[in-house]
Amino acid sequence: MPPSTVNRQWLLERRPVGAVAAEDFRFNEADIPVPTDGEVLVRSLYFGYDASQRIWLTDDGGYMEPIRIGEPMRTMGIGQVVASRDPGYQVGDLVEGFLSWQDYVLARGDGPMPLRVLPPADHPLSWHLGVFGVGGLTAYFGITDGLQVKPGDTVVVSAATGATGSLAVQIAKALGAKRVIGTAGGEEKCRWVVEKTGCDVAIDYKTDNLDARLRELCPDGVDAYFDNVGGDMLDTMLLHMNPLGRVLICGAMSSGYCDVKMQGPSNYMRICTYQLTVRGILLFFYRDRLAEGAAQLGEWVREGRLHVEEHVVEGFEHAPALLPTMFTGKQPGKLILKVADPD
Ligand SMILES: NC(=O)c1ccc[n+]([C@@H]2O[C@H](COP(=O)([O-])OP(=O)(O)OC[C@H]3O[C@@H](n4cnc5c(N)ncnc54)[C@H](OP(=O)(O)O)[C@@H]3O)[C@@H](O)[C@H]2O)c1
Repeated sequence: MPPSTVNRQWLLERRPVGAVAAEDFRFNEADIPVPTDGEVLVRSLYFGYDASQRIWLTDDGGYMEPIRIGEPMRTMGIGQVVASRDPGYQVGDLVEGFLSWQDYVLARGDGPMPLRVLPPADHPLSWHLGVFGVGGLTAYFGITDGLQVKPGDTVVVSAATGATGSLAVQIAKALGAKRVIGTAGGEEKCRWVVEKTGCDVAIDYKTDNLDARLRELCPDGVDAYFDNVGGDMLDTMLLHMNPLGRVLICGAMSSGYCDVKMQGPSNYMRICTYQLTVRGILLFFYRDRLAEGAAQLGEWVREGRLHVEEHVVEGFEHAPALLPTMFTGKQPGKLILKVADPD
């Protein structure tokens, strides 16, 4: 149970150089804030972990404002409204959106991804951060709109054990892709990808020669590549795309996200000579279609066509220690911290 009069917080103590560490954050206790016009006071219940949180810790911040020293760490989360000065939110509403590592967060209904009021549901609340959250929705819009996967396609998904990749694989299969190949780190994770996501084959990016394996597994080339990794993997993938192939840039896990500047692929002339379509995805652009994506994902879940995997750790005190694990080998699926139960 969170304290009722104290607001526990994890504040950014220093800007990490290289890999993020738990020591980059400092525990603090503050008063519970009071909302003013347009604000909503949310009690935190769950925090979701995303690799892109590391980029928010750079001076630049990437695609969002950087987190400043002394500020609570930003996170996607689920909470319950405890006071509201916005008519769009009622006390007791369960909401999902941008929160921060504190028991009580002042949030607003505007911004790039407004707080979503969650509908009553018969699945675990935490799924709104996974299959119905950033990972699932990005996988859905990435496979359907970004890559336009169709029956008969050969599709490759990198980081296929991840919250996003594991669902991208399954959505591609649900849409009738002929063959879906995933990449994962190590034998056990490769097995997981095949058994749990229905991936046809997994390539171990740590020990396999990606180029040789792709030549063997996709002699007729790749039609669509869902890229969560960037770096050398993207470079190699470009050489295996079919003419008019589609590439979706979703993430750059191989970079570690320590800097906003990254090295682009050296095989980029393949984009020209094979007339590839390379497209990015950022869920903010789909903010008006989130309900549509969640509805389709929900239907597939009910039909038993999507396996949902999450790893839930409990306890506010663990918030900083979990962040580095995003880059050092986490368990498959969505990593979530449970902070409190709803009323
Ligand atoms: N553009 C958007 O709107 C958007 C939305 C959601 C996510 N993303 C991005 O999509 C990517 C995946 O997100 P996620 O939510 O699925 O993350 P996740 O659950 O943390 O999974 C990340 C995966 O990356 C793999 N990985 C880590 N380091 C790697 C490396 N050096 N080379 C290859 N694979 C590596 C890990 O695979 P193993 O455990 O098998 O090693 C892990 O499964 C991230 O880059 C994230 O920032 C973008």
